[in-house]
Amino acid sequence: MEFPINEFQQAETPFYYYDLGLLRRTLAEVKRTAGDVHVSYAVKANNDARILKLIAEAGLGADCVSGGEIEASLAAGFPAGKITFAGVGKTDREITIGLTAGIGCFNIESLPELEVINELAGKLGKVAPVAIRVNPNIDAHTHSYITTGLAENKFGINLEQLADAIDAVRSLPNVSLRGLHFHVGSQVLSMEPYAHLCRRVAEIEASFPDVEFKVINVGGGLGIDYENPDANPIPDFGAYFSTLHNNLQLRPGQEVHCELGRSIVGQCGSLISRVVYVKHGTKKDFVIVDGGMSELIRPALYDAHHPIQNLSAAAGGELMKYDVVGPVCESSDVFATDELLPETRRGDLIAFRCAGAYGETMASNYNLRHLNPSIYYED
Ligand code: LLP
Repeated sequence: MEFPINEFQQAETPFYYYDLGLLRRTLAEVKRTAGDVHVSYAVKANNDARILKLIAEAGLGADCVSGGEIEASLAAGFPAGKITFAGVGKTDREITIGLTAGIGCFNIESLPELEVINELAGKLGKVAPVAIRVNPNIDAHTHSYITTGLAENKFGINLEQLADAIDAVRSLPNVSLRGLHFHVGSQVLSMEPYAHLCRRVAEIEASFPDVEFKVINVGGGLGIDYENPDANPIPDFGAYFSTLHNNLQLRPGQEVHCELGRSIVGQCGSLISRVVYVKHGTKKDFVIVDGGMSELIRPALYDAHHPIQNLSAAAGGELMKYDVVGPVCESSDVFATDELLPETRRGDLIAFRCAGAYGETMASNYNLRHLNPSIYYED
């Protein structure tokens, strides 16, 4: 990845850096491999206005989980009809934003929510398109990373309740059934859970032969290579889409939709930070940087490791072992322990790679810290 170091030297750190050229190439690969799958972008992964605009221009839809995300997507140029609204706790205000804009689909997660959407749509004289989010209860013992598609979590409607949910949609005057929505989990690197999901979709459809599901939305979750961003800057979209094509048994006229977040924006972003101090402890040497868990919480929250690159050190020197830590007053504000880096000095610029997804969107101002404006690279 290209890093415009001279521009970085002038900038206040920490900030996010986005390689929009890589984003364009990633989107081109999605389009090349998707075939007739309708691809939406999960806005929660990154809602930077320039990024959203590029993705809207590429023709993807927007998968939103709040009124704010719907508004940001409309402002970025996504057509309302290509916006979907998911989430277990949609408020009346947010539902009204979606109804007024005329979004393409509400992915409903409970019967009380369905009733509220029906009532609010009625007040506005509209009919709301809805898809029922089904919890596919895909076996977590074989795939422990699948944490959202299990019967015990809060997402979706369990299979035993699906018949009632379909009846409820059909009985209410101001909602119309568009299809079914699923999601198996995130950072999924094996194709098996997707094949499994496709088989589950076929079983479900077989139980409802007389119900029209125009749309089958298989959710998102395709993972990225967090350890080798330069070797694998673009995920294997070909394998993903061919798994869907090969395993879904579609009815005539049926559309397949998916909503990818991390795989689209994950590799194009880095958090850039400056070394404030190098501290030699009795047991460890610490690199203390000016970005922390307030700017990139994934290491503290999920024990995630983002590759760390010293952009100022000359390549090829001897590697030293450091704990790389942020300035926040929490002992979990650690990016990595025993990380091998070239000899690192105060003032060096450090890139935390693979941070384009769930980096900036999960930042906070804890400790009243401040994230500086992003820098973009276009080749
Ligand atoms: N669709 C639904 C219904 C979802 O819940 C999610 C993500 C997506 C699509 C997009 O998934 P993706 O393609 O990005 O994996 N903050 C965590 C990830 C949370 C994902 C939540 N749902 C992280 O930093 O790893």
